[in-house]
Amino acid sequence: MKKILAATLVASAFFASNAMANSPLVIKFSHVVSPDTPKGKGAERFKELAEKYSEGKVVVEVYPNSQLYKDKEELEALQLGAVQMLAPSLAKFGPLGVREFEVFDLPYIFQNKDQLRKVTNGEVGKDLLARLEPKGIKGLAYWDNGFKIMSANSPIHTVDDFLGLKMRIQSSKVLESQMQALDAVPQVMAFSEVYQALQTGVVDGTENPPSNMYTQKMHEVQKHATLSDHGYLGYAVIVNKKFWDGLDEAVRAPLEKALDEATEYANDIAQQENDESLAAMKESGRTTFYELTPEERNEWIEQLRPVHKAMESRIGAEVIDAVYKAVE
Ligand code: LMR
Repeated sequence: MKKILAATLVASAFFASNAMANSPLVIKFSHVVSPDTPKGKGAERFKELAEKYSEGKVVVEVYPNSQLYKDKEELEALQLGAVQMLAPSLAKFGPLGVREFEVFDLPYIFQNKDQLRKVTNGEVGKDLLARLEPKGIKGLAYWDNGFKIMSANSPIHTVDDFLGLKMRIQSSKVLESQMQALDAVPQVMAFSEVYQALQTGVVDGTENPPSNMYTQKMHEVQKHATLSDHGYLGYAVIVNKKFWDGLDEAVRAPLEKALDEATEYANDIAQQENDESLAAMKESGRTTFYELTPEERNEWIEQLRPVHKAMESRIGAEVIDAVYKAVE
């Protein structure tokens, strides 16, 4: 926290002197994944377009790979104004007190991206972003990563194969409940620590879309992975509300245009990025990938279905119902 406060003071002083010198406005965009992922590429595209459309009024500095902050710290840094922009996974808003986003983590809630899009592009998506405002955060867009696969050092075909496995999860109670429903032992851990934890055996396995697994080299330390597509991982692009609302219209309008286009780009490339990462991991031969049989898949769905009901009190039954209705 001290580190963030110090950075905030430096940032404030910097903005004040910036304004005086009439130099460009600096937007710090921090994230935890590799530049070579859907989110990493989306952030770079936003930078390029924001600088172009603002005609030099804005400079966007992108800090990938938890270079500035880890998962939890980056949200605190955004609230304090030490950074202006983030795109945390939707599974990471619980600790901020906005638990409703964990609806996206419910196992098998979306069959495909079209269903998901009905939520993110519709009223439910808008309503969820609005819930961030009392926290001093403005939600601007949803960016895709993709559907998750399960990995471990032992084969995981049937639900019984999870018994006792220590599985790293993001900071979501829904993911915790999901792992418990499989008789695995969930362990919350920052993204930047996962590779080492897998390598040293602190945890046995994890879940992530192929793009994250590949770009963090997790396939080098996971012998098995199952293409379960049991859950979705995506992002909310968020900004410090005070910062955003305080922008001059001549600056905000080009930024909005840049973000719209970067969003379309990020969502367009996400599937392909994941497909290519999966192909590259298969090619490397380090991890053995397994496709569930229809019977096994049904067994996973059955085992995980009770998580929806169990999480009603956390997420809100009305939010879950609104998502069910949107995807119908
Ligand atoms: C994770 O922590 O597994 C992901 O949220 C990382 C990310 O931002 O994609």
